[in-house]
Formats: sequence, C-alpha cells, structure tokens
Amino acid sequence: MVLKQVEKSDCDYILEIRNDKEVRKFMFDDTVISKDIHNEWFVCALANSQKLMYLLWDNNHPVGFIQFDLNDKNEAKWGFYNSPASPAGTGTIMLKLALREIFISHGVDKVYGKVLLCNLASQKLHQKLGFTWIIEKDSESSNRIMLFSLSKQSWFEILNMEE
Ligand SMILES: CC(C)(COP(=O)(O)OP(=O)(O)OC[C@H]1O[C@@H](n2cnc3c(N)ncnc32)[C@H](O)[C@@H]1OP(=O)(O)O)[C@@H](O)C(=O)NCCC(=O)NCCS
Repeated sequence: MVLKQVEKSDCDYILEIRNDKEVRKFMFDDTVISKDIHNEWFVCALANSQKLMYLLWDNNHPVGFIQFDLNDKNEAKWGFYNSPASPAGTGTIMLKLALREIFISHGVDKVYGKVLLCNLASQKLHQKLGFTWIIEKDSESSNRIMLFSLSKQSWFEILNMEE
C-alpha cells in the first residue's frame, strides 16, 4: 500500500467515504455533506499551504484518506477515515505511513488527534502508535473528547524499539 498526495481527481472519492454512515458516526459533525459544499471545501483545501492531504492506495484503489492541518508552532492536527470496505489493519498501515511523512518529510514536531469517547477503534489505533492522551471538553462542540498527542521524539524512540 502507498500513500500519495491528494489530487484534483480524488475529490469525489473523499466525499463518498466522508458521507458513508459508518464514517459519519464518528465525525464531530455527522451531517451529510452536499457535493457543492464539498467541492468548495476541496478547492480551498488544495490551495491551502497549511493543509496536507493524502490517500492510501492499494493496487490502484484508494482505501483511505488522511489530512493534516499545520500551525505556526510546527504542530499538526490530523483527521482520517478509511473506505468502509477496507480490510482490518488498513488504518494502522495508513497512520504509520502518514506519521513518517509528516515527521520526516515535513519536519513537524508534534501530531494531535481529537477522538470522540465512543470511537474505540480510533482510540486503540492512537494508543498502539504511542500517542498519549487527556480527556477534555471540545471547544467547538463542548462534548467530552480524547485529545491524543505524539511528539517526533517519542515516535522516533518507538520506531527504534520496534526495529
Ligand atoms: C478508525 C479507522 C480509520 C480504523 O481503521 P481500521 O482499519 O479498522 O484500523 P486497524 O484495524 O488498523 O486498527 C484498529 C484497532 O482497533 C481495534 N478495534 C476496532 N474496533 C474496536 C472496538 N469497537 N473496540 C475496541 N477495539 C476496536 C481493532 O481490533 C484494531 O486493533 P488491533 O490492531 O490491536 O487488532 C476506521 O475504523 C474508520 O475509518 N473509522 C471511521 C472514521 C473514524 O473514526 N476516523 C477517526 C476519527 S478520530
């Protein structure tokens, strides 16, 4: 499987999986997004130098989407979702490749992930990858959430232990 930067032609695929009910269940905003709103967002997202977006490809089929929002402190917030039909283990592969990309190729120092308390698969994934977490109130929704973080240093140490 390979991670590739998102291109214009990937717009419809991203909307299709974002609107799937199995994915929406775990989104902070679970409404169905219209094609017009999505297209508008997509054009802005592609033009935004503070945003990085990737698809995970398996034999010429996209199986997952991941995005990073960078800030001025060399940190990034990520969000991701798989094609609902993708096999178990796809999330782990995508996130490992994405961490390597963001820490090594983009020089980011810390990655954050915001997860709903009901999203056990995502919590497990973050923990498996070495993220630490705190529970806090989300500033936008005021829901209780888990805020995960992983520094480049910790990621590097975990990687060395695995090898
Ligand atoms: C989160 C998501 C990317 C995970 O993808 P995935 O391919 O299932 O991930 P993996 O199989 O690599 O890892 C998931 C882990 O969680 C575990 N898991 C899955 N469902 C679980 C549940 N309900 N309770 C506890 N653990 C669970 C799996 O067993 C696996 O752990 P393991 O590798 O030790 O067996 C995918 O489920 C998804 O797209 N969900 C909808 C969108 C979403 O939640 N995005 C993240 C928002 S923060």
